[in-house]
Amino acid sequence: MTFVRIMGMGYYLPKKVVTNDDLSKCVDTSDEWIRTRTGIVQRHIAANNEACSDLALQAAKQALTNANIAPEAIDLLIVATVTSDMQFPSTAAILQAKLGLRTIMAFDINAACSGFVYALDVARHFLTNGVYRYALVIGSDKLSAIVNWKDRNTCVLFGDGAGACVLGQSDTNAHCVVDGFLGADGSNPDWLCIPAGGSLQPATATTVANHLHFVSMNGREVFKVAVRRMMEAVRGVLERQKLTIADIQWIVPHQANLRIIQALADELGFPMDRMICNIDQTGNTSAASIPVALAQAEAAGRFHPGERILLVAFGGGLTWGASLIQY
Ligand code: UT7
Repeated sequence: MTFVRIMGMGYYLPKKVVTNDDLSKCVDTSDEWIRTRTGIVQRHIAANNEACSDLALQAAKQALTNANIAPEAIDLLIVATVTSDMQFPSTAAILQAKLGLRTIMAFDINAACSGFVYALDVARHFLTNGVYRYALVIGSDKLSAIVNWKDRNTCVLFGDGAGACVLGQSDTNAHCVVDGFLGADGSNPDWLCIPAGGSLQPATATTVANHLHFVSMNGREVFKVAVRRMMEAVRGVLERQKLTIADIQWIVPHQANLRIIQALADELGFPMDRMICNIDQTGNTSAASIPVALAQAEAAGRFHPGERILLVAFGGGLTWGASLIQY
């Protein structure tokens, strides 16, 4: 049987840090409101000339170095993002050239904040089937490029970053991606979206004047559904693997709101000190959120051989998913 091993990880957070106090000078908000309602203290913001593929490039280089794999060995490149450098071509295609990869299959996945978990599962299938030997999977987002910096409902929540992992076929189950459980429900696409700029409402002077090219969100509805759908994903993957939550040592949840993470831990009966959280430092970095938190926790030596780690995400769509990793 072929296992799919995480051979190396990497992450990148832009240098510029914006604190809650900095934001309170631009919009009617406060450090106290942001901390207590979201758990966020600061976020990293990319430079104007740093696009999604540039963030991804830094994370990918680090992952390749940590995996000790040459770029030429990569057979498949997937970038999860909602902030592609351009509407098309894909960020993955752009990154193929920037990384100097062979002319391999490269594509983007748009599953918003669940994008990395989706991408991981797609790559897992390609590797398990023996189609490819090595894959590079990246979550990269520059949310600062698509939020309205005058809208306090959204601008305080997001940050920029990228996280990457190199996957490879393996004969043993150590450091492996074991399974994934994914879902989507598009009945309320407007709960979290950019209303204009697509084929439904192409860009016009009016769409620009009405701020329809920025993230629009119904925070309360998303909050309610997030916990329910993440529970569904966790239960789905545990049931399929005939495990219970007691068999899991760590959860790396999507970093959208500390209160959502706490609610998930409560529902699962899972200790909060085993939930990997970096939201205070990064805010919500969308598709980058889980791989950045995972790569940081690994670099800090928090995981031990034999432990099981669950990744669990939800995002625009709505989409959701969980991945099980055997460390
Ligand atoms: O990756 C998925 C991304 N999205 C999410 O995960 C969003 C999930 N939702 C949330 O995290 C929360 O709903 C928010 C953090 C967005 C909002 O927290 P909330 O506790 O649900 O607040 P609320 O929307 O119920 O608003 C409470 C009050 C409102 O004032 P009124 O109407 O009660 O007078 C807002 O206008 O807080 C006000 N408010 C703010 N005040 C200060 C909203 N944003 C801010 C702000 N600073 N930045």
